[in-house]
Amino acid sequence: MTILIVGASGQLGRELLRQSQRFQRPAQAPARDQLDITQIFQVEKAFAKFCPSIVINAAAYTDVDGAESEIEHAFDVNETGADNLAQSCAKRSIPLVHVSTDYVFDGNKGAPYVETDSIAPLSVYGRSKAEGEARIRTALPEHIIVRTSWLYSAYGRNFVTTMLTLGRQKKELSVVADQYGSPTSAVDLAEVMLQLALRILNASAIPWGTYHYSGHGITTWWEFASTIFKIASRHESLPALHLKPIATDEFPTPARRPLHSALDCGRIKRIFGIQPKPWQKSLRHVIQQIYAANHRDDR
Ligand SMILES: NC(=O)c1ccc[n+]([C@@H]2O[C@H](COP(=O)([O-])OP(=O)(O)OC[C@H]3O[C@@H](n4cnc5c(N)ncnc54)[C@H](OP(=O)(O)O)[C@@H]3O)[C@@H](O)[C@H]2O)c1
Repeated sequence: MTILIVGASGQLGRELLRQSQRFQRPAQAPARDQLDITQIFQVEKAFAKFCPSIVINAAAYTDVDGAESEIEHAFDVNETGADNLAQSCAKRSIPLVHVSTDYVFDGNKGAPYVETDSIAPLSVYGRSKAEGEARIRTALPEHIIVRTSWLYSAYGRNFVTTMLTLGRQKKELSVVADQYGSPTSAVDLAEVMLQLALRILNASAIPWGTYHYSGHGITTWWEFASTIFKIASRHESLPALHLKPIATDEFPTPARRPLHSALDCGRIKRIFGIQPKPWQKSLRHVIQQIYAANHRDDR
């Protein structure tokens, strides 16, 4: 019962691979030079080689601002790549667990989004992810798409690691305080995705479809940043920093982002009994991981 993890060098993929060892299922995680999902022949070759029982796709083009100028690249990975995986899964009746984003919504609802709300992406990234979702739904009934938001981990470049780097270099940092959402730890999301994969492998009737999963609680980027520094200061003496709350208009970016993109996670809780964890608790855990890794590197 092999699990094929695609995108295993990313922040989510890395956690999926690490935790799959605990779940005692053999996992295969080819690097991008072995499996480029935009190339159907490479996808077919990997499926023939690994004979997976299930595929978890953590691969994506995730540079939200970069996508505004690399439109073709973003759609190649997020739409064509997702479609290639779904087509190869469909040929062999293999289920696919895929990840999507809160950025498929425009943020104007004024309340957390449920899975059936209409999508209206504001950015190329959001559009490319929405098209990927649509392609999977068309090609493969046996899919689970998990939309998540504000993903971070102890590794790679994400909001938490960026804030910690900047916090050591700057005296003042401006952070957007009028965008609302829910930070999600890659540790928690990987656990959820593997739980879903095991349910699929062990149960006969699976309610396929789209689900929302994010950390529990809604915050702003500014409050997220100030919580990061509060927790980090228990591990390290950081220089005094003024964290300045600013409006989205004061920090223009190539891609527009939804102002309120929190996800309602009621469906995954009702159907699979999966309960999101408070985002502050998960953040504490990831920051601990970061300092534990630094400590190991120092030795
Ligand atoms: N980051 C967020 O805040 C966020 C928020 C909501 C949803 N999501 C979704 O969560 C999922 C995981 O995101 P993440 O932050 O873990 O991503 P990430 O760290 O950027 O990792 C992306 C992974 O995709 C791989 N990849 C890119 N193009 C590929 C291709 N053509 N073929 C095969 N692999 C390819 C990358 O490989 P290389 O290392 O070789 O480049 C890397 O392993 C994505 O679906 C993303 O859209 C992310």
